[in-house]
Amino acid sequence: MNKIALITGASKGIGKALTEKMLNENFFVIGTSRSGKFEKIEHKNFYPLKLDLSSTESIENMHKEIFRNFKHIDFLINNAGIGPDLDTYIPEKESFNLTFDVNVTGTVFFTEPLIELINENGIILNVSSKMGSLNVCELTDSVAYRMSKSALNMYTKILTNRLKNKIRVASIHPGWVKTTIIESNLKNGRLTPKQSAENIFEFITNEFDSGTFWNSENGTELLW
Ligand SMILES: NC(=O)c1ccc[n+]([C@@H]2O[C@H](COP(=O)([O-])OP(=O)(O)OC[C@H]3O[C@@H](n4cnc5c(N)ncnc54)[C@H](OP(=O)(O)O)[C@@H]3O)[C@@H](O)[C@H]2O)c1
Repeated sequence: MNKIALITGASKGIGKALTEKMLNENFFVIGTSRSGKFEKIEHKNFYPLKLDLSSTESIENMHKEIFRNFKHIDFLINNAGIGPDLDTYIPEKESFNLTFDVNVTGTVFFTEPLIELINENGIILNVSSKMGSLNVCELTDSVAYRMSKSALNMYTKILTNRLKNKIRVASIHPGWVKTTIIESNLKNGRLTPKQSAENIFEFITNEFDSGTFWNSENGTELLW
């Protein structure tokens, strides 16, 4: 039987590339985007869903749909994330709140009810960023984005403790990837989404210790 992966933010960038990779590797993939539309992902094992993590109603609708149609999930991959204040220096309230709504609050309240659906030996992967590491931060840009990823990392730690010996949990830094999370990444990013997805896939399909913060660009552990 195909393993089932639920990937948020599957419509573009890293999430789309990971969806394609996992479909090619015989996973059944439930993928989400705000519109529920997915360009060029047509596969018998792809199940598209609409999800806006900034909306409680959308999250609740998504839960209903998932519980109606699925008895279990093997991999929950919280990939969707935004960075409206990337490369800016002074926090601005509207984009600060939106960043936290999507990257933190939405992700947490989307994840919580799904935990009971995740098989023993399943995994939860939070797509975080090196920019959220408290240990390696020497810069002053992207206040909301960095803080949101630090908060997400704390959620990884808490889930690791709560789900010990049942579900493995990790945060991953997917590398500096050519996506439109910020326009300049298309030029400056070091990895294509496909390369990043290959690295992430290798991490999640191998034995990793729960509670790891992994830099999949260079295959090393990151400090929290
Ligand atoms: N690119 C990098 O260099 C880099 C580095 C470190 C970490 N990351 C992390 O990697 C993850 C993926 O980023 P990416 O670079 O692939 O970005 P991206 O190309 O902008 O893709 C973001 C995905 O999130 C979805 N999304 C946006 N707003 C959403 C919302 N309110 N609710 C639900 N889904 C939403 C988007 O779908 P729709 O717009 O279709 O809804 C899209 O599928 C993010 O968590 C990001 O922080 C990226």
